[in-house]
Amino acid sequence: MIWRQIDGDRELVVGERAGGVLIQGDARTVDLSAYQGRVQCVYLDPPFFTGDDFNFRMRIGEKGWTDGSQNLVLGAYSDSFPGGRAQYLSLLRSLLEKAYALLSDTGALFLHLDSRMSAHARLLCDQIFKENNFINEIIWAYQSGGRAKRHFSRKHDVILFYAKSKALYFDISRVAVPRKDNRSNHMRRTVDAQGRACRTIKAGGKVYTYYDDEPVFPDDVWADVSHLQQKDPQRTGYDTQKPLALLNRIVRCCTRPGDIVADLCCGSGTALVAAAENDCRFLGVDLSPHAISVCRKRLLDTTLEVRTPFDRTPARLKAEMVPGIGYYEIELEDFDAALQFPEGTQFQPKGLQIGGLDAIDQWSVGFLRDGAYKTYVSSARRKQTPALKTLLELPLLRGQVAVSIVDVLGNRTLWVADSQA
Ligand SMILES: C[S@@+](CC[C@H](N)C(=O)[O-])C[C@H]1O[C@@H](n2cnc3c(N)ncnc32)[C@H](O)[C@@H]1O
Repeated sequence: MIWRQIDGDRELVVGERAGGVLIQGDARTVDLSAYQGRVQCVYLDPPFFTGDDFNFRMRIGEKGWTDGSQNLVLGAYSDSFPGGRAQYLSLLRSLLEKAYALLSDTGALFLHLDSRMSAHARLLCDQIFKENNFINEIIWAYQSGGRAKRHFSRKHDVILFYAKSKALYFDISRVAVPRKDNRSNHMRRTVDAQGRACRTIKAGGKVYTYYDDEPVFPDDVWADVSHLQQKDPQRTGYDTQKPLALLNRIVRCCTRPGDIVADLCCGSGTALVAAAENDCRFLGVDLSPHAISVCRKRLLDTTLEVRTPFDRTPARLKAEMVPGIGYYEIELEDFDAALQFPEGTQFQPKGLQIGGLDAIDQWSVGFLRDGAYKTYVSSARRKQTPALKTLLELPLLRGQVAVSIVDVLGNRTLWVADSQA
């Protein structure tokens, strides 16, 4: 059966959980007017002005996904600004203005930076969000990374928390943490008249009592969330990926189920995953095609709309489609990806050849309907499922059957069988 590529503007994935929209593009210029004033939480984790280039490590084939021994290292995004600080701050200003316009009156902004630009960012936020809407400067302290000898090691990021207005919705009770059993402090451990375990301390002639079974809420120094370790199962291969625990705290404290969380520099999509886990809808934007393919894979169980045109590539697809009773069986036989590796691509091991189905990272089957491609069944390589399912069963529904493929370079192509065209 001959398959040919067709154009398409968007993909709708039929998922089981609350979902959202993913857009590949420049957040400064992408049209988000439909979301104006409707977003409850904007998380922004933009470039930090490090001067570095960041990569995406794409595992290749079943072997690569099983033991990490076959990879492509691809450029993901650049954090260099030839125009210097002025150019960087102009990006930040545009992102903050966009965030401000998106937020509802009860909404919250979390701007994640490090010590390089946080002072400048604070002044920008004061201008755009107004000084009296500043809520917290959160210090995310961690231990990972090397140790410096010429200065104190830099072991924290700064997260600036601003409200859109005085109507901010914030519920700290949703982010309670376990009480630390700090026996070295000066509190007296005891039980009260009802037998409840507590600690007491006397200060200024007054006795303060803290019950062991009462929730404890984080303060503005977050030292209880560690960076992702090298072997962390959450790791997607996208540099600068943040831990889910950090984003869960941010999303939970300022949203209710059904709210919209936006991340305008979504990278691997951690904030979007946190939104979905907390029954919120999401809006993710990123410039990098690798970011979009990682996000798509992480969010495949949500009702997802990828609002980005499909690519056209020189690839060729071989697949069979057999109608059964109540479903179609679509079997992937071969894929000639004709990959065009961008300059600077690293092959691990050197000379790695990528042929056939190894060039596929994700594929799905669905229908063309009302001008969109609707995905019903998918298979994607993951650490837990390194092999691609080569046979997918599609329910017999109205519409033209189509196949979508995301290759290891992040190209998304859409295919229809010629006999049906
Ligand atoms: C620090 S990373 C985000 C990491 C993300 N929080 C995560 O957990 O994976 C910054 C991201 O900003 C994106 N980016 C940079 N400039 C952008 C722009 N103008 N519009 C949209 N995304 C942009 C980069 O492609 C990169 O993925």
